[in-house]
Amino acid sequence: MDRYTQISSAAMEIAGAKNNTIALTGAGISVASGIPAFRGVGGLWDKYDPGEYATIEAFRKNPAKVWVMLKEFKEVIQQAQPNPAHLALAKLEQLGYLRTIITQNVDGLHQEAGNTNVIEFHGNNRDTVCLKCGRKYPGRELNLDTLPPYCNCGGVLKPDAVFFGEPIPWEALSRSHEEAYNCRVVLVIGTSAVVEPAASIPYLARRAGARIIEVNPERALAADIFLRGPAEEIMPLLVDEVIRISS
Ligand code: APR
Repeated sequence: MDRYTQISSAAMEIAGAKNNTIALTGAGISVASGIPAFRGVGGLWDKYDPGEYATIEAFRKNPAKVWVMLKEFKEVIQQAQPNPAHLALAKLEQLGYLRTIITQNVDGLHQEAGNTNVIEFHGNNRDTVCLKCGRKYPGRELNLDTLPPYCNCGGVLKPDAVFFGEPIPWEALSRSHEEAYNCRVVLVIGTSAVVEPAASIPYLARRAGARIIEVNPERALAADIFLRGPAEEIMPLLVDEVIRISS
């Protein structure tokens, strides 16, 4: 099927699901906002070995080293703005066709774009938390002139994002499963779908009867409808088509 026919079929599924569509997003949706993805050409893990920078063990062993990467990532995120893909999802929520976004991203761009029901499955990069006393610091308060930043109690501060080897926040996990079991469409955008337990969410939804729609330049999962291309191009077309067939 050509791209238009695919988009039209996807739009029919979403329009038919009314408020029972959820989205699962990954780093690919923020690439057009200037935030590199993790895997693939130019990915963050090309530059920084995740074994040395993205596990909680690596962080505890050498926080100053990991904070060099974290500071660079934070600066990129601070410059980033929502792109047409984020804005399309915000419009879909405003139109009443998108109930929840489950995002693996920590950049906060879905909320900035206007989505109000966002589950941050891997935490966020806004806040930092003390590994010793557990105190949380809102991101704006951080002085990163010297690394690592320390808590007033003397403990090392860590972004409130989930590192490999850490559990998914319980509330995010249970809410995401609840959403997956109670949706009719799961729109999977910009994820390689290789990191568990996020990667299983579309299949949990399918087991409960949902259709899987994927938006990605390359196929990452066994979707019912695959919209090949960059999200910043595809998503506005998809939302326009939902509006057209619903009016
Ligand atoms: N539009 C849509 N998808 C895109 C675009 C784009 N413009 N550019 C790239 N992609 C796709 C890639 O084809 C790939 O499938 O986005 C995906 C990015 O995959 P990853 O870099 O693996 O990102 P993600 O799936 O979010 O990683 C999951 O891994 O390292 C951990 O915690 C980190 O949350 C992250 C998790």
